[in-house]
Amino acid sequence: MSLPPAINDFAVRVCAWQRRHGRQHLPWQNTRDPYRIWLSEIMLQQTQVGTVIPYYQRFLERFPDLQTLAGAGQEDVMPYWAGLGYYARARNLHRCAQVLVAEHGGHFPPDSRAIAGLPGIGRSTASAIAAFAYGERSPIMDGNVKRVFTRFFGVHGYPGLRAVEQRLWGLAETALERAPDDLDMTAYTQGLMDLGAQLCSRGKPQCEACPLASNCEAKRLGLQRELPEPRPRRTIPDRHCAMLILHGDKHVLLEKQPQSGVWGGLWSLPRYDSSHALAEACISQGIAVPDSGRMATFVHTFTHFRLHIEPWMVDVPRRAAEWLPEQSWTPFELLPHIALPAPVRTLLEPLPYTRKA
Ligand code: ADE
Repeated sequence: MSLPPAINDFAVRVCAWQRRHGRQHLPWQNTRDPYRIWLSEIMLQQTQVGTVIPYYQRFLERFPDLQTLAGAGQEDVMPYWAGLGYYARARNLHRCAQVLVAEHGGHFPPDSRAIAGLPGIGRSTASAIAAFAYGERSPIMDGNVKRVFTRFFGVHGYPGLRAVEQRLWGLAETALERAPDDLDMTAYTQGLMDLGAQLCSRGKPQCEACPLASNCEAKRLGLQRELPEPRPRRTIPDRHCAMLILHGDKHVLLEKQPQSGVWGGLWSLPRYDSSHALAEACISQGIAVPDSGRMATFVHTFTHFRLHIEPWMVDVPRRAAEWLPEQSWTPFELLPHIALPAPVRTLLEPLPYTRKA
């Protein structure tokens, strides 16, 4: 496939635009510290800048460097991630810190190829870390950047498909090969991210402000809405469960989730296949479940399924024994400090723990 001549100054245009119009003061910019850069890149996967900023700052106050993070227990780390979602990121982050301390002398490896072998770090994230921390000339290709490349080069097909993704990586490599030797990799890499997030947005691209517009294939053909092509449609299955909010004496019964699974490592509420199974479990412990305990059904959508939750709030005068070893009666005042999935935190809101004294 022939390449448009405009690929030759693609990187220079992105760089010049970033210096004038891109973001300059995000909390993870203007540092060469790979620890801070790595943390930001992991938090920013699938998560918006505005959501990440307060998490990033709180995390760094508690874990200011790699050694502190590696030395902490997973229980200490998860509360600083609770609410950000995609919790495998936090578990891998912690594991990666431990691998770096145990096997790499407490330092990040010196190039993106070696960084990409670490837990939770893929090719694009490794390149972004190496570009920002070391100025390495290697391309990135995250969701925002895919939009810029598919539109500029007129690449058809869903970018999640292997063949399409490989074509995009090839274009990103060529754009860098054709760039001048003194290209500023920090400005270029950030520029691609900024263009994708600020101008080349999915719904309403601002082509009039874009430094690439004069040679953009999607703009030439009026295909900004069609590119990138969406994922072929797939319906996700519905699952149902009942959750028990059993509380008494200013404590609530929580259950530790197994490491594998969507909420791995977090605390949650005891979960049953149906309201019937929930009532049976309670009755077997001598606890009656009144009809008035039923709360509004609540739907939470995961990547692979939609979970319909029927919550039941049951008040017991005195705490019973724990029913299972992975359960724990938790005092209300500890709830703000415990790693809970966002929908579970919402379910616990009616309990008086959130009220300010
Ligand atoms: N998304 C991924 N990495 C980013 C960064 N460094 N700045 C802003 N958004 C990003």
